[in-house]
Amino acid sequence: MHDELDIVVLAAGQGTRMRSRLPKVLHKLAGKPMVRHVLDTASGLNPRQTQVVIGHGGDTLREALADLPVRFSFQAEQKGTGHAVAQTLEQLGHGKVLVLYGDVPLIRRDTLAALLERVDEEQMGLLTVTMDNPDGYGRIKRDAAGNAAAIVEQKDASAAELALTECNTGIMAMTAAQLKRWMPRLSADNAQGEYYLTDVITMAADDGVGVATAQPATRVEVQGVNNRAQMAELERACQRGYAEQLMADGVALADPSRVDVRGTLSCGHDVFIDVGCVFEGDVSLGEGVQVGPYCVIRDATLGADSVVASHSVLEHCVAAGRNAIGPYARLRPGTRLAVAAKVGNFVETKNADVGEGSKINHLSYIGDAALGSGVNIGAGTITCNYDGVNKHRTRIDDHAFIGSNTSLVAPVSVGQGATVGAGSTIARDVSDHALGLTRAPQREKADWPRPQKRD
Ligand code: UD1
Ligand code: CA
Repeated sequence: MHDELDIVVLAAGQGTRMRSRLPKVLHKLAGKPMVRHVLDTASGLNPRQTQVVIGHGGDTLREALADLPVRFSFQAEQKGTGHAVAQTLEQLGHGKVLVLYGDVPLIRRDTLAALLERVDEEQMGLLTVTMDNPDGYGRIKRDAAGNAAAIVEQKDASAAELALTECNTGIMAMTAAQLKRWMPRLSADNAQGEYYLTDVITMAADDGVGVATAQPATRVEVQGVNNRAQMAELERACQRGYAEQLMADGVALADPSRVDVRGTLSCGHDVFIDVGCVFEGDVSLGEGVQVGPYCVIRDATLGADSVVASHSVLEHCVAAGRNAIGPYARLRPGTRLAVAAKVGNFVETKNADVGEGSKINHLSYIGDAALGSGVNIGAGTITCNYDGVNKHRTRIDDHAFIGSNTSLVAPVSVGQGATVGAGSTIARDVSDHALGLTRAPQREKADWPRPQKRD
């Protein structure tokens, strides 16, 4: 037997109880389709190949997994788990085969590695779990010597068998040779008229092949998803696991049950995350970063000691460190804050470089812009970057001061140390150290009588 491994992932079922247009295994857990969790774990075992058995929603699945190094076997009709595995027989090699499920997403690599270690020509491996409520599961029958001798499906079970609490997780491993020997022997002579993969246990016993059983570290690893309630349950379990890992890594969470990570979140020491935050994609928070309540941060890198105040939304941006962001700030893609730059409340930035120590403190839109260091942007300032057809850039050099309620009509630049008077509409460049002002002169009418209400 070669040491190589083939992994078979069953994903042909319809998932009717999800009541969804989307194939069940593409429903997202922690921001990632369930089947991708399984495939990521599978790839950690360095298999020779991974075969995904598809049926319902097959085209959607092929498309959704097109970027992964997996092969597909098509099971036109769902005639049972044994029938599903049989679709892959011709592609299998000469080593071990591990059977996984696209709707059992939280299985861990270590559990599988331990199971595979038990497999050789004389012995197959079966992952079992003891359930308080085994309803719906296949039950493990053991012989007088305590060896697993058969799996009885719920619908085929006698009252005595129904009382057994050791259950089949469905996950098993054997040599390709054994599988090729056993699959053609399956019959659909049972209560459901299906080809049961579980019948291989009896065949193993008949062939003098032992069945080594192993258990997962936690039940959640082998929990399958059939409906949205189970999906939500696994989502919580998954998030709890992420939260525990973050805390173990030195992150302070205001409430470990109120943070959601849908991707990867890496944090330096002494990061604090308040309640209700959502992290998506790849997020990296430097040492001492503080994130206030109800922030959404997606694909962002925040340097050490930055503070993001509540209700801020950050996407595809980089903050160098010691930045103050929010509350209610919206940093859109291409925002790059240099050290100690500030973006305050109700400020939106996009495709903008903000230099060291520069401040955009209130109610502004800064898009397609490059700000030098020490720039001060007054409240209500906007870059008019879009003429209805094209986008144009605004440049504001070091230590420029932009008065409140200024419109900067791009393309335009404001020179170093220049000042723009409040309320201006700046459509032409302002020179270094100059004052740019378009404000209409204030007029005054002395003793002006207010209009009176007519009756
Ligand atoms: C199966 C096991 C049962 C075990 C349980 C654990 C069998 C006969 N029974 O039962 O012992 O306790 O899982 O959850 O194996 N699938 C296909 N093609 C098919 C049939 C199924 O791809 O023709 C896929 C489904 O999409 C699903 C998985 O296999 O992901 C399990 O199928 P399902 O019908 O849910 O099996 P259970 O009845 O739950
Ligand atoms: Ca099932």
